[in-house]
Amino acid sequence: MSKKSILVLLVAVFFCSVVPARSQSELPEGNGKKTVQTYCVQCHDLGSVTRANYSQEGWRNNLYMMINVGAALPKAEIETVTQYLAKNFPERPQPKAVVIPGSAKIAIKEWVVPTPGSRPHDPLATADGAIWYTGQFANLLGRLDPKTGKIEEFRLTPKAGPHGLVADKDGNIWYTANFGSRVGKLNPKTGELTEYFMPDAAARDPHTPIFDRKGTLWFTVQGANMVGRLIPQTGEVKLVSSPTPKSRPYGIAVNSKGIPFFVEFGSNQIAGIDPNTMAIREYPLPNAESRPRRIAITSGDLLWYSDYSRGYLGRFDPATGKASEWPSPGGPRSQPYAIAAVNDVLWYAEAGTKPNTLVRFDPKTEKFQTWVIPSGGGVVRNMDVTRDGNLALALSGVNRVALVELK
Ligand code: HEC
Repeated sequence: MSKKSILVLLVAVFFCSVVPARSQSELPEGNGKKTVQTYCVQCHDLGSVTRANYSQEGWRNNLYMMINVGAALPKAEIETVTQYLAKNFPERPQPKAVVIPGSAKIAIKEWVVPTPGSRPHDPLATADGAIWYTGQFANLLGRLDPKTGKIEEFRLTPKAGPHGLVADKDGNIWYTANFGSRVGKLNPKTGELTEYFMPDAAARDPHTPIFDRKGTLWFTVQGANMVGRLIPQTGEVKLVSSPTPKSRPYGIAVNSKGIPFFVEFGSNQIAGIDPNTMAIREYPLPNAESRPRRIAITSGDLLWYSDYSRGYLGRFDPATGKASEWPSPGGPRSQPYAIAAVNDVLWYAEAGTKPNTLVRFDPKTEKFQTWVIPSGGGVVRNMDVTRDGNLALALSGVNRVALVELK
């Protein structure tokens, strides 16, 4: 062995032995450090822990989520570790909610879901008046009867990590298994589960699903940069890649002509899919820094997007290419996220303010009105419109679902 290669070898040995020790020593001293080192490194590195910042309640909820996905942290250690993490990685200051009064009246009702650390990601309001949600980290779907407050849980196959959900005409609940590279269907009457696997292993993280009027299921696949189509009659799944690399296809909605449109959370574009050929056409938004996260559609097939990165509400008309934007009341760091349209009025949540807000925007008057979410919301990731024209919300970080009655 030459001197040079011995040196290379020594350097390699040095780094292999030192690097893990160094990253562990990033954890500050304190009661709880050992426990974190022992139980928090099996699935991701400690950076996932040290980059996070939560309140005590937020850390406690995070620990329940991690136990739900398989961390072996003993329950008796939860309080010590919560105190340790909340002391050393405390919540960062967030912009304050900005409340704008107005004449619209609403009532917000919230329910805590049964399993701690469920992370209710998306809500779904069904024709029977129920509110469903995906318990992403508890691997279940929940069904709330808002009249009685009763919540029923439906366990899924292991490591599904349900993210988005949507109902078909027969009342089956379809969900994207975000941790499991598949789409599932639950028959709530029998509890029977049917699964549809991705034809390409690269499509790891099916994200947000939607049915078009013909009953075809469309879904985004964020990390894999794809969009999928599932024909329920045959079970056939077809995937296509988004033209822009790493564009992160995210929220999706279908317009009146049956064309699915999705927003690209990794770029400043909205895209439409030809439902027959699956050809994708991208439309750039005016600001290069825009990162549209979810989408809603109003009359005339106008597309509305929540611009998460810049704190704007935007409208885009694909027929003319014209975009209009309004700064969100909570400011540049307000992180507009969940969005829905009710009778051509826009409703969305600011996920970056503390507490999260519910925002109403009337395109006729171009006026905003806002309310705080009573529990804080803890990042409201999606909302749905109920059969009565109210809103169903999933409050991911506070383990709740909500019904907003619009009066
Ligand atoms: C069995 C696997 C597993 C173990 C063990 C585990 N985690 Fe996680 N953790 C996950 C998964 C899955 C995610 C979500 C996907 C991702 O961001 O990688 C995650 C994400 C996180 C996040 C980011 C959360 C977010 O909402 O973005 C934090 C913080 C975290 N884990 C903390 C911990 C702590 C603290 C421990 C030790 C008690 C731990 N994890 C142990 C699987 C695990």
